[in-house]
Amino acid sequence: MEPQTIIQEIAPSLYLLRVNDRQTRYFEALWEIPEGITYNAYLLKTPEGAVLFDGWKQPFTDAFVAALEQLTPLDEIKHIVIHHMEPDHSGTLPKILALTEAKPTVWGHPFTQRLIAGLCGLQPSFQAVKNGTRFAFGGRELVFYHAPWLHWPETMVTHLPQDNLLLTGDIFGGYGIPEGVFDDEVALLDQWLDSARKYTISVIGHYKDKIGKNIRTLTDKYGLQPSMILPAHGLLWRQAPQRVVQAYLDWGEGKSQPGKVTVVYSSMYRYVERAVQVAVDELRARGFRPVVHRMVDDKRAGLADILSDLADSEAIVLGTETYESDIFPLTEFLLHEMVNKVAFAKPLLAIAVFGWAGAAGKKLHTLLENAPYEPVRIVEFKGLLTEASEAQIREGVRAMVADLRAE
Ligand SMILES: Cc1cc2nc3c(=O)[nH]c(=O)nc-3n(C[C@H](O)[C@H](O)[C@H](O)COP(=O)(O)O)c2cc1C
Ligand SMILES: [Fe+2]
Ligand SMILES: [Fe+2]
Repeated sequence: MEPQTIIQEIAPSLYLLRVNDRQTRYFEALWEIPEGITYNAYLLKTPEGAVLFDGWKQPFTDAFVAALEQLTPLDEIKHIVIHHMEPDHSGTLPKILALTEAKPTVWGHPFTQRLIAGLCGLQPSFQAVKNGTRFAFGGRELVFYHAPWLHWPETMVTHLPQDNLLLTGDIFGGYGIPEGVFDDEVALLDQWLDSARKYTISVIGHYKDKIGKNIRTLTDKYGLQPSMILPAHGLLWRQAPQRVVQAYLDWGEGKSQPGKVTVVYSSMYRYVERAVQVAVDELRARGFRPVVHRMVDDKRAGLADILSDLADSEAIVLGTETYESDIFPLTEFLLHEMVNKVAFAKPLLAIAVFGWAGAAGKKLHTLLENAPYEPVRIVEFKGLLTEASEAQIREGVRAMVADLRAE
């Protein structure tokens, strides 16, 4: 089936080239995205030729070439700007360079040149940019700024000062295939902010400390207050650009939504589930809003969805069991990614169940020893939930609530 594409002029002579990717099931071969994803490239047309910003993932190369040809003969592309070299945006670069006889100049962070050589085996004519490098072309102006580690080391953004537009690559991007192009064309904007949080936490969460630093450099040091934010995934922000900027700062700091508690558990035969339900009831009774993710025999919550909810929760409840003298393997993987991507000082209550010789509790101690969660409480017991273990769980929730209220 032909991929669905959108080609649209979004500002004078600036075109969006968007493809809706419904075939990638695991983004970066890791993150479940039943909602799909878009790749947004941009083309600026001028009387002197065109400037292409980024591209699409490699399987969409033919569609990308066809989309570009609707806007311009390929030889009119005189410059290509690379915001970062991850192949979801640079997968089409080799083909574009091969098809353009008047070889375009590639613009990017100094490190980008080495990545083009390493990942594509190519050495195109290259212009390295510094913070604030200006490029005037065909009556338009482009100004580049570095934004390292959002998402790759050599990430940069492009400001078009005449229209006050900011092309941001992955920054401010989201999963999902919005029904409109702009933030004022979708019915449920909050849902798209959630999609952007899921994308940001799963893809950029490891570099969360760079989020506030880079964004504040752009806004405070360089005074950027763009009227439109044009990311490489998902919605374009023109109605509420400041809203997505603020949301991004909040995610980088792990700011919590009042009352939200993420509850995540694995359970083979529902022993853990019964125990976790006690915590859920206790949380509800105390006015909290538990958001529950299950890893059970008929449902497996997506890891990116779990991480995304953890990022803006006030507290965490984690349930798991002993499996082959160790912690349940999916929980171990989850904890690895939690510590990696949602490393915020939030209270955590863990519930561990075993059959004959508990190992999950011990492993939790080890895995959480150097984790940022604070305070950590672990309740461990054998087999069926007893009155005593139920009381321990309720007490754990009460203590967690007291921590939160004491802040
Ligand atoms: C495949 C499998 C392996 C298990 N391995 C261990 C083990 O090594 N040590 C132990 O104490 N219990 C072990 N158990 C028992 C579980 O930890 C115990 O039944 C627990 O209540 C399961 O909770 P769940 O049904 O919510 O997953 C195992 C259970 C299963 C099904
Ligand atoms: Fe990326
Ligand atoms: Fe990306």
